[in-house]
Amino acid sequence: MRIILCDKPEDVASYGARLMSQQIKNKPDSVLGLATGSTPIKMYQHVIEQVKKGDLSLAACRSFNLDEYIGLTPDHSQSYRYFMQQNFFNQVDIAVENTFVPDGFADDIEASCVDYESKIQQSGGIDWQLLGIGVNGHIGFNEPGSSLRSRTRVKTLSSQTIEDNARFFSADEFQPQLAITVGIETIMQARDIVLLATGSAKAAAVKATAEGPVSASCPASILQFHPNVKLIVDAEAGQDLEHKQFYLRIEEETQKLMRY
Ligand code: PGA
Repeated sequence: MRIILCDKPEDVASYGARLMSQQIKNKPDSVLGLATGSTPIKMYQHVIEQVKKGDLSLAACRSFNLDEYIGLTPDHSQSYRYFMQQNFFNQVDIAVENTFVPDGFADDIEASCVDYESKIQQSGGIDWQLLGIGVNGHIGFNEPGSSLRSRTRVKTLSSQTIEDNARFFSADEFQPQLAITVGIETIMQARDIVLLATGSAKAAAVKATAEGPVSASCPASILQFHPNVKLIVDAEAGQDLEHKQFYLRIEEETQKLMRY
């Protein structure tokens, strides 16, 4: 795991965007694994700017999102399909039929999970996977206690996650307690993984991910076994890390990229 220390959330966003655009330039028909949440929004904005300037095209890309709430229609303002359309897909040149988000409103949810997993495999697997991290160490909606070999399936959200996401729902609005998520094994099969974390609420999860034992108690810790992970954190999210002297500052990492 390569841990990259940034000062500010803005640096996490711009560096994440740089990695994403580099991936797409190197392989224009990349299969992208995408994430929702407040963390990647700024990163998506940088990528959108590049596409609008004509410096980048996603026309040949396909994308698979990590997760979706069960019980929300795709046009519901809190669904992750809606989030992706608003915050990314509608503003870049990816073809909407090449964007996949689990179907949380399918008649047969179990079958739709199997179908989603096989679509990922049929596409050749994820080339570049973007991840956020939950306060409790979840990746996607793989909550603590998730099987480390899991595939796309239904998960019950933890009370921590429901509480963390309550801010997006109005008081009288239905807030789902179930979700479809790709599995931990699905994530681990991605060729490259980039995890972004900002803010002090993530500090304990970041420490457990990078320096803790590998354990289902912190699902993101499995990433220690992956050969190509970049964990990009701002000062607050990285504040509990004990071995900072061994990690790269963003300036060194950027210089290295320019050298090679
Ligand atoms: P956040 O969510 O970016 O909104 O903090 C991350 C996650 O729960 O995976």
